Amino acid sequence: MSHSPATTASKRSIPQLRATKGVEKLAMLTAYTAPMAELLAPHCDMLLVGDSLGMVVYGLPSTLPVTLEMMINHGAAVVRGAGATPVIVDMPFGSYQASPEQAFTNAARILQETGCAAVKLEGGAEMAETIRFLSDRAIPVMAHVGLMPQHVNQMGGFKTQGKEADDYAAIQHAATTVAAAGAFAMVIEGVVEPLAAEITRQVSIPTIGIGASAACDGQVLVIDDMLGMFTHAPRFVKKYAALRETISTAVASYAAEVKNGSFPSDAHCYGTVTAPKKKPARRS
Ligand code: KIV
Repeated sequence: MSHSPATTASKRSIPQLRATKGVEKLAMLTAYTAPMAELLAPHCDMLLVGDSLGMVVYGLPSTLPVTLEMMINHGAAVVRGAGATPVIVDMPFGSYQASPEQAFTNAARILQETGCAAVKLEGGAEMAETIRFLSDRAIPVMAHVGLMPQHVNQMGGFKTQGKEADDYAAIQHAATTVAAAGAFAMVIEGVVEPLAAEITRQVSIPTIGIGASAACDGQVLVIDDMLGMFTHAPRFVKKYAALRETISTAVASYAAEVKNGSFPSDAHCYGTVTAPKKKPARRS
């Protein structure tokens, strides 16, 4: 497989993506590796190196153990594959919550060491000062409200958000606050449709939904979910392929052919002629 940048289409800058609000829907997918980024980039407006890689790539139980080094390594790989498509990299848990200065130091590392276009961080009003601090210092921020996987312990699991009136109002407040603080876009995850629709009407930046209905300005899915790599996926995931079955069938065929000797065949060998004759030893 070639690892050259994938896309020749003219791709948009962060301000241009922000300006799509109300004009067009944005398609974003997660990517964690260079070859996958190369495949996805021609079709997507943005790629997200989500901290979901903790579960998807590393088999961790949540996003909480994901480190800055993991995000930087995968972020750099995705940027290499993405060509001109903007890449957003998640700030992992513990890398931005302590202070705006801590967030700046780590976000600057992410930008410098990966070449990505922006970072994403979870949170509402408590993150407004940090979002303003980063945005004023040349670091575009995608916000993330609603169901926030880094808050799993506080939320008591991955539950749809905004069902109760106080929760609904709190998420609405979070969304308007992060937009006012300078985020260029926001992910809205796992909220009821009326809330996603109301936020999308209220804020002047694109809302990117995941489990938040078609009312949002765009959509994002975890790539392995939509390709059907897992047996279980949340209800909001549409499986566009059944790669788990495809891979399993392919690997079973390979193993069977190795065992019965039909792989490799002549077609997969470098020459089937008999070994070259040895040159006769020269007489002195
Ligand atoms: O980590 C991630 O993949 C995400 C998306 C689900 C939005 O944050």
